[in-house]
Amino acid sequence: MSIITLKNVTKDYGHDRGIFDITFEVKKGVTYGFLGPNGAGKTTAIRHIMGFSHAQQGCVKVNHLDSWTNAATIQEILGYLPG
Ligand SMILES: Nc1ncnc2c1ncn2[C@@H]1O[C@H](COP(=O)(O)OP(=O)(O)OP(=O)(O)O)[C@@H](O)[C@H]1O
Ligand SMILES: [Mg+2]
Repeated sequence: MSIITLKNVTKDYGHDRGIFDITFEVKKGVTYGFLGPNGAGKTTAIRHIMGFSHAQQGCVKVNHLDSWTNAATIQEILGYLPG
């Protein structure tokens, strides 16, 4: 069962910056390493998972709930320690 799902997620900040057509899922109970060089889009993706930011395209779900429309619920159960 997937606990986090991103499907075809895009956030275009312009000037080739942002995240483009990102798709991945994290299964329940799995430790997932999310690695990439500076500016790759890790923080942007996590901000979408938390419901802080709204994807321009695609969908983001946590525990089968849309992260944007259920942001308050997700932020009650999910911790995020920004850099
Ligand atoms: N609010 C914003 N407005 C405009 N551009 C942004 C914004 N947030 C991030 N970006 C740009 O989007 C790209 C991805 O940034 P992001 O912070 O998600 O990368 P990152 O993988 O977390 O990098 P780092 O390893 O440095 O933390 C970068 O080019 C960044 O400059
Ligand atoms: Mg970051």
